[in-house]
Amino acid sequence: MEMLIRPLTSGDLDQIVAIELEAHEYPWKKSIHNSCIEVDYPSQVLEVDGELAAYAVYNYLYDECHLMNITTRPDRQGQGMATKIIHHIYQDAKQQGMKNVLLEVRASNHPAIQFYLKEGFKEIGRRPGYYPTKEGREDALVMQKDLTC
Ligand SMILES: CC(C)(COP(=O)(O)OP(=O)(O)OC[C@H]1O[C@@H](n2cnc3c(N)ncnc32)[C@H](O)[C@@H]1OP(=O)(O)O)[C@@H](O)C(=O)NCCC(=O)NCCS
Repeated sequence: MEMLIRPLTSGDLDQIVAIELEAHEYPWKKSIHNSCIEVDYPSQVLEVDGELAAYAVYNYLYDECHLMNITTRPDRQGQGMATKIIHHIYQDAKQQGMKNVLLEVRASNHPAIQFYLKEGFKEIGRRPGYYPTKEGREDALVMQKDLTC
């Protein structure tokens, strides 16, 4: 299995939008991905044998890395893809002087919460009603990982 991690480019967009639709109940639209590329947010794509398997988009603000999106293609989930990408992000963020990684996650997104807990993220707060749901709104957990220890 040949793996490659590289920044996301506009040439990946159609594939990413297709994965996004498969993997998320509330997917990012192509326009959101497009504007992240336009404003030059850092991003990573993980290719396995030349096929896009996972990706992440993040942002740096002062000494904080804000993880905005991390997604593994459904048929590649549970194979360590997100782990590989997030470890790459820690390295990148540390090199850029970031002290922690911060993210919001739906309170009902148990696979993602388990993933972040395994990665050493701690819940540091909640944003009530942050996300829309079919029935109304749901909370976001705010989670943080210290990169300095
Ligand atoms: C969350 C997500 C990115 C994890 O990606 P992944 O490539 O499957 O994760 P990994 O294989 O690297 O898993 C690492 C650890 O995360 C946890 N984990 C991953 N999927 C899990 C699941 N379905 N249930 C419980 N724990 C899970 C486990 O602790 C796992 O370690 P283990 O394999 O030793 O048990 C993936 O489920 C996904 O793309 N979900 C849809 C998009 C999403 O919700 N993104 C996060 C938005 S904040």
